[in-house]
Amino acid sequence: MVNLMSEQSIIRTSNLNLWYGEKTALKDISMEVPDRRVTALIGPSGCGKSTLIRCFNRMNDLVDICRITGRIDFHGNNIYAKESDPVEIRRKIGMVFQKPNPFPKSIYENVAYGPRIHGMNDKKRLDEIVEKSLRNAALWEEVKERLQDSAMGLSGGQQQRLCIARTLAVEPEVILMDEPCSALDPIATSKIETLINDLKKQYCVIIVTHNMQQAARVSDYTGFMYLGEMIECGTTTQIFEHPKEELTENYITGRFG
Ligand SMILES: Nc1ncnc2c1ncn2[C@@H]1O[C@H](COP(=O)(O)OP(=O)(O)OP(=O)(O)O)[C@@H](O)[C@H]1O
Ligand SMILES: [Mg+2]
Repeated sequence: MVNLMSEQSIIRTSNLNLWYGEKTALKDISMEVPDRRVTALIGPSGCGKSTLIRCFNRMNDLVDICRITGRIDFHGNNIYAKESDPVEIRRKIGMVFQKPNPFPKSIYENVAYGPRIHGMNDKKRLDEIVEKSLRNAALWEEVKERLQDSAMGLSGGQQQRLCIARTLAVEPEVILMDEPCSALDPIATSKIETLINDLKKQYCVIIVTHNMQQAARVSDYTGFMYLGEMIECGTTTQIFEHPKEELTENYITGRFG
């Protein structure tokens, strides 16, 4: 097993394999993800990064042709066990996508949506959750005067922070981010990177990125994937400065991918 560290891990995959129909997309992945740290997944297009993070909150359950073997433990419990509830897993392990995807509703309603579907109806409590989530997503100051305006009127960077606030509103423990900055300009990207750095004080963050500089800037640990395999994971410094595998070195020095 690739042992990331001596730190406390919150997610651990053991011999994880995944197929889409006949095609293998993940091969024998064993890794640990530490709590309250940022772990980056890097690797060339099609190597399985999105597939892997979608396994972490059972989003691949929604793909009919997808089959999984091995296990993923969250706090030591197999999330694919029969008694495990995917809705609860997705609350605890939230996800932010590549393109900001706010609902065509008000800013307030975007954030209140999750708590509401989990049964929260108290208006005062919802107001508090909305404010706290927007503050934690570094968006509150920009939107506090316009909470009832449509979320679609926000800039791309603001929309992405709104999606992060929406994820935070249901009090997750892990935040999965699949290329969260690839649709954003450098200023909006820098805001999200600062935010990621704050979020790790309270959450485990797993980020997929194509941007090597971003992985180096924001992450504590990095996993390099290639053709469905986890070639190497370790501290970000080790992976970028002293990769053990030639494939990793070739990738991070831009010799392919
Ligand atoms: N729903 C699906 N059905 C069939 N094959 C899929 C599906 N999703 C992904 N794949 C295949 O699985 C492999 C891994 O895809 P994945 O999207 O995980 O790669 P990725 O590393 O995230 O790539 P990118 O950097 O381009 O986003 C690819 O060969 C892809 O074509
Ligand atoms: Mg992807």
